[in-house]
Amino acid sequence: MLIAQISDTHILAKSSDLPEAAPRAEDLRRCIDDINGLDPLPDLVIHSGDTVQTGAASDYRHLTELLTPLRPPVFLTPGNRDHHGNFKAALKETCGELPFLHFVVDDFPVRLVALDTIDPGQRKGVFCAERLVWLDETLSAAPNRPTILFMHHPPFDVGPRYIDGYRNLADRDALADLIMRHPQVRRLVCGHCHRSSQRAWAGTEASTMASVARDVREGVDVARLAETPMYQLHAVSENGCVTTQTRLVIG
Ligand SMILES: [Fe+2]
Repeated sequence: MLIAQISDTHILAKSSDLPEAAPRAEDLRRCIDDINGLDPLPDLVIHSGDTVQTGAASDYRHLTELLTPLRPPVFLTPGNRDHHGNFKAALKETCGELPFLHFVVDDFPVRLVALDTIDPGQRKGVFCAERLVWLDETLSAAPNRPTILFMHHPPFDVGPRYIDGYRNLADRDALADLIMRHPQVRRLVCGHCHRSSQRAWAGTEASTMASVARDVREGVDVARLAETPMYQLHAVSENGCVTTQTRLVIG
């Protein structure tokens, strides 16, 4: 099974005259063209949040127009830049249901669970007791199926700038305790910090990826790759072993 991950596209309205608007749209367009040309084609695409910049409906109109050519199905979870209501209205069945936009994708060999770490108006991540109960019940329902979680805020530090990224640090500790009790979780994939990283966490593996939006990326050789969009490919074996490649969209 092959999963393409995009993140932090920070798309602006088509009418925006901000200098970053057109390059961000172009970065996403080029990633989608590249995904569509892969052989084998990914089974699905996940977007780990900050889909748009301001949360306005006009941002989402541009985002959905850009996503339309994507050949594999796409599933999305919000970031702190997203607006829950406008996100849900624009993306409909490709995300969860309010108030928390969690959901499960069950019709692939590996189970996918999208988690919503957003508290509207908060930049930092949140994973309250109600969300913990939902996740515990969801994971308990399929203890033998390899599972990948995706969410916006990493529940761990990613140096040098993403430190203590949760409003209540007890949230992320409780989430780690929960994941430790569900060994079928083979990977947690995140966005938000705009930087690629990989680490052991809570008895599983966790990763973050560089933003698709070039102007806010971190940890990338700007002298060589300033105009090279990038995204990640996660190849998942039948037993849930995940091998990740960062794909550079050159040319
Ligand atoms: Fe972001």
